[in-house]
Order: sequence, then structure tokens, then C-alpha cells
Amino acid sequence: MPKRPTDHPADAASARNSSPASTPARPILPPSPDTPTPLLGNLTPSQFMRRYWQKKPLLIRQAIPNVEAPLSREEFFELADQDEVEARLITHFRNKWQLEHGPFAPDELPSVKQRAWTLLVQGVDLYDDRTRALLDRFRFVPDARLDDLMISYASDGGGVGPHFDSYDVFLLQVKGKRRWRISAQKDLTLQPGLPLKVLQHFEAEEEWLLEPGDMLYLPPHIAHDGVAEGECMTCSIGFRAPSAGELTAQFLYHLAERGDSAARPDALYRDPQQPAVDRPAELPAALIERVGSILAGVKWSEQDIASFLGTYLSEPKPSVVFDPPQRPLNEARFISQASKSGIRLDRKTNLLYNRRFFFVNGEETPFNGAKKWLFDLADHRCLSAKRFVTLSDDSSVTALLHEWYCAGWIQVGELA
Ligand code: SIN
Ligand code: CO
Repeated sequence: MPKRPTDHPADAASARNSSPASTPARPILPPSPDTPTPLLGNLTPSQFMRRYWQKKPLLIRQAIPNVEAPLSREEFFELADQDEVEARLITHFRNKWQLEHGPFAPDELPSVKQRAWTLLVQGVDLYDDRTRALLDRFRFVPDARLDDLMISYASDGGGVGPHFDSYDVFLLQVKGKRRWRISAQKDLTLQPGLPLKVLQHFEAEEEWLLEPGDMLYLPPHIAHDGVAEGECMTCSIGFRAPSAGELTAQFLYHLAERGDSAARPDALYRDPQQPAVDRPAELPAALIERVGSILAGVKWSEQDIASFLGTYLSEPKPSVVFDPPQRPLNEARFISQASKSGIRLDRKTNLLYNRRFFFVNGEETPFNGAKKWLFDLADHRCLSAKRFVTLSDDSSVTALLHEWYCAGWIQVGELA
């Protein structure tokens, strides 16, 4: 389904402060690069990345045996009723495609007995620890590329029509059955005048019926059509792929905000040689030339690019609001508590790093040797009590972590 957060409306409603009841789930570590895993049909992540990633589709039977839908149908419908959640309802009644945006109260949804409708909720990992845990299984791909987990519920015959996406996706069947048909066709012309992207011509080349636990990986631009056979739920683990245009615009904005990359950022435009004119509306050629040389003086380094990417890619989605603790522990009590029960990143926190900086939720923090432990926190999304104790003497570390705790970016305690 062609919707990824690069398309998120900038004005998305602000998030609520609490999540639906969910049983925290212990984080499931992704398989290590050279260990064969059922998740990838007994390939190692390294083999999968070499042979399939961005290259060709792969059907994996029983990628997650005995998988359970992370949310029940009722919990899912409740989620779609929340203001800040991005929900869409797609119906295909009497051969007509229609799209509506949520929130949807339960009585605004068609009956589950009615055929051919589907409800999609984007970014479910932000609202529920079980879904976040499912997304974490795919962290053999860098976090910088990982986007979100979308869940779709479909009544019998429901789907979003034949289409293509511009990003990689793993389509994991978690409840009921869905028939997927795919094609590497070159003709990606869309039907005009529809509220959603539906291909004008679709000629399936391969077809499979997916059952709970089965998964289909699709690289960008493979045409696909998934139709529910009986009611079903599908989790779609999607990746982000910003366009060159978006990256360029955002990078230039980042440079301008920093204000230190232009050769002489405060140099004023001057034109002592400007002659009097009889065509005042004409843009002076000398002006264009002069501005050209100012722009040619804009310089950036590899660190500017890393710093842009780290802050840009760790920026939370527009709808995200963190939940700071209502009665935060002071620093001493925080340290004593974390030394007993460890800490974990909030499920909404993005923490990336490179050789010189950490990027947490869109902010850049330089680090010194003492902060090396942050690598572990970033890679595992938690620090055990034992590990925390080893750093609790370093007040620069504990002060930073306490700040993050007060902001709701990390929580005390490992997941159950
Ligand atoms: C997709 O085609 O990308 C997912 C659509 C769905 O889950 O219905
Ligand atoms: Co799709």
C-alpha cells in the first residue's frame, strides 16, 4: 500500500499521552548476520541481503511459526478510533474504490460480515510494545532504513487493489488467509481519477495463498495484489527510502539552520558597479553571477552529511509525543532504581550513532570514550541492571540518562 511516513501529513494531530493496554514484550533480538533463521526461510540475514534485498521477491513459508496477531480485531478497531493514529478505510463496494481517513468510531466501520473492505493503520509500533517487538525482528537491516509497522484488517475479499510501492516491504500474515499475486511487469500506469493508487493493467506472474506465519518480501516496484480469503490481518514491515529531491531539500535546510557552512554567511550583497537602467524590471545578469559565486562558496563536510542524516532520520514522526513520567525520580533515585532493574528505550525513541555522535529523537550529542556504553543501548534498545551498574559512577552519563528519562525517552526497567 503506497503510504509511508515520508508522506505523513505535516499537520498530523498531536499524539495522546497513553497507549492502549498492552502486555510489554521482551525485545526479540534480530538474528545475527551469519545465523540461518526461519524468518528468512533458513537463509542467514547476510545471504538474504545479498540475494534478495532490493533485488527480487521471496516467499517464506512459516517465517514465524505459531505467530499471533499482535492485536486482536477489537484492539485494532479501538486503535483506529484514536485521533493521532493514521488510519485509512478502503472499500471496494459495487466495483468502486473508495478511501476515507480516520479516526473511525467502531460504528463507522462496515460490518465485519460485509465483503471487500479493509482498514489500515500506519505506525502501530509506536502504540504497542508487542508490535514494536515484531518490528525489532527486522533490525538486521539498519535502523536508518527501518520505517514502521502497518497492520491491515480485511473482510473477505478485501484488499487495496493491484498496485506497487516505492519501498521494500515484508508482508507477514498474522491471522486468516490472503492470496497474493505479484508481477515484475514494466507497465506501472495507474488508473486515473481514483483516490488510491490502483494499476490500470495487472498481469500476475506468480500467486500464493499465505497462511498465518507465512511472509512475502517485495522489493520496490513489484506489482502486487493481496485479497483476503475470509477475514484476515496482515502486518507490513516497511522501510523508508527518501527521494534525492527530499534529501537535497532537507540537507540544504539543515545547512542553512546551522549557518556555519557558507564561506561568509553574513556577507551582504553589494553592487557598487551597478549602472542606471531603463528596464527596471529586468533581473541584472551581474546579480545572478554574484549570487552564483556566493552559492559556490557553500561548503560541507562528511560530518555535515552524517549530522544531517542522524538528526533527520532519528526525528520522531510528526504525531509522536513522549510521555514523561508524572512524578519523575530524582537523579539519585533514578540511578538506584536503574541499577536494580536496568533501562530501556521507549518504543517511540530513535537512537542512532556514528563514529562521533549520537542522534536521539532528532538531537545530536557528541560523545567521549565514557559514553561508549551508548552503543549497547542503541543496538539492544536496553541496558541490563548489571551493565548500568558499571557506568553509574560516571555522573556525565547518569545526568544525560536522567535527562532522557525525564523527557520520557527511556524508561526504568527491562521489559517483562
Ligand atoms: C501492501 O500491499 O503493501 C499491504 C496492503 C495490505 O496489507 O492490505
Ligand atoms: Co503494497
